[in-house]
Amino acid sequence: MTLSLKKHAKFAGRKGPVVILVADGVGVAPAGPSNAVTEAHTPTLDKLAAQTLYTELAAHGTAVGLPSDDDMGNSEVGHNALGAGRIFAQGAKLVNQALDSGKVYETDVWQEAIEHGRNNTLHLLGLHSDGNIHAHTQHLYALMRKAAEQGVKQCCIHILLDGRDVAARSALVYIEQTEALINELNAQYDSNFRIASGGGRMEITMDRYEADWDMVRRGYHCHTHGIGQTFGCAADAVEAMYEATGKDDQYLPAFVIAKDGEPVGRMQDGDAVILFNFRGDRAIEISLAYERDHFDKFDRDEHRPHPSLYYAGMLQYDGDEFIPARYLVNPPNIDRTMGEYLCAEGVKLFAISETQKYGHVTFFWNGNRSGYIDKDLETYIEIPSDNIEFNQAPAMKAREITEKTIALIESGEYQFGRLNLANGDMVGHTGDLAAAIEAMEVVDECVAKLIDAIEAAGGILLYTADHGNADIMYTEKNGIRTPKTSHTLSPVPFAIVDPNYNGEYQLTPPPDAGLTHIAATTINLLGFEAPDDYQPSLLTFK
Ligand code: 3PG
Ligand code: CO
Repeated sequence: MTLSLKKHAKFAGRKGPVVILVADGVGVAPAGPSNAVTEAHTPTLDKLAAQTLYTELAAHGTAVGLPSDDDMGNSEVGHNALGAGRIFAQGAKLVNQALDSGKVYETDVWQEAIEHGRNNTLHLLGLHSDGNIHAHTQHLYALMRKAAEQGVKQCCIHILLDGRDVAARSALVYIEQTEALINELNAQYDSNFRIASGGGRMEITMDRYEADWDMVRRGYHCHTHGIGQTFGCAADAVEAMYEATGKDDQYLPAFVIAKDGEPVGRMQDGDAVILFNFRGDRAIEISLAYERDHFDKFDRDEHRPHPSLYYAGMLQYDGDEFIPARYLVNPPNIDRTMGEYLCAEGVKLFAISETQKYGHVTFFWNGNRSGYIDKDLETYIEIPSDNIEFNQAPAMKAREITEKTIALIESGEYQFGRLNLANGDMVGHTGDLAAAIEAMEVVDECVAKLIDAIEAAGGILLYTADHGNADIMYTEKNGIRTPKTSHTLSPVPFAIVDPNYNGEYQLTPPPDAGLTHIAATTINLLGFEAPDDYQPSLLTFK
């Protein structure tokens, strides 16, 4: 289908580009000592929030395609919403539906995995929490129950400790729940289900955008070959590692459950492995490590030969590269994104961020599509992220991204651009309040510079965020503060900086205004009518 946009009847756009700045993880929550956004000195952001062309948008729950309004927003669904201009049922919801209806169990992939599990061992690997951003323990439990019911006797569960989408030290709670189900199933079916290995999600297995393959190497060797410190059970492992390292769940090292000195769950030829994460960014690299015949990112045979496995994902994480080839639930089919419409109209555009969020402004923005839509029109730039705990350098690469964006604006070549400043979110996830405040002050400084550049170019800057995080850095109960490392349910800011504004339009957000309304708004500001089925523009033109 050839896409096209009609010229806007009342607005021809400005001389300079329209640029969307996503301050990742910078939501709007009540001011107070736990809010790094309001605690920071941010004169520019304060000015934006006080202007007429400012509103707040829903960025969580059903407004972005999640199962319920108790689900916090996240970067995947946020950037999908920004780029697609419509609400699509997202992975979390699609998996719920497929498990509830039983459709998952009718698939060839499930049946073949079960067959391997009955003859050998079924391995279930994934993020072990109910954060519902990458995975949900209820999904794991549904698969465990069905596998037991269908005759799988040997099942190894490999758990990635979260503490990033849920409380920083909550691993023991989920371990207890999983062990209880294991006991129940083993008693009922005379089976041998057990937790076999694990480690913190920022330490092993769940790297993204090829920021640090070594993480994946450690995870692969831990789950596959039983390489890691050995313990008698997962709860002992976590307790001992809290004690020894002082670290929270997401950073705990790899561990292996062993009996009589032998790992209980090494993977063997003929075993099946299901990665029960539904979100793609942090599931792609480990999927490649498991399923590719030829793999050169690290040596899989370092300890013993890479076994021949039946590997499947909960979803297909990358539909263009077919990663993985086998999966249980169809991913959302996000079509006709704003990037496709703009390319069809010959609009030159750029997308830029640092490694940690690079795929967010490209892959997620383009509806989970890999690569360029039109290489002749688009420029994508990745500034390499450091591989450190980000509270150690709260600016991250915000200044570098800003400088490069200013150069792109000044080049005069582009009509549209988008950038993501990662630090509000990535530092927010560390739970370090002082570092998050510093991150916010750097964001403010960068926004000020970008406003100057937009003004000089005669363009428009749209300032927003994909979800909250830095806006609530801790919770307090009975005088005890608990760091909050996860995202929030907060709305996000939306400000239009249009130095040539002359009253041509008004900001008239509908009561349900959310992130999905930004695409049509942007298309209008570029001088086009938005596609009919996009969520309506936030603007009314005179
Ligand atoms: C992560 O993957 O870092 C968190 O689970 C979610 O963060 P993001 O949605 O901001 O990427
Ligand atoms: Co985040």
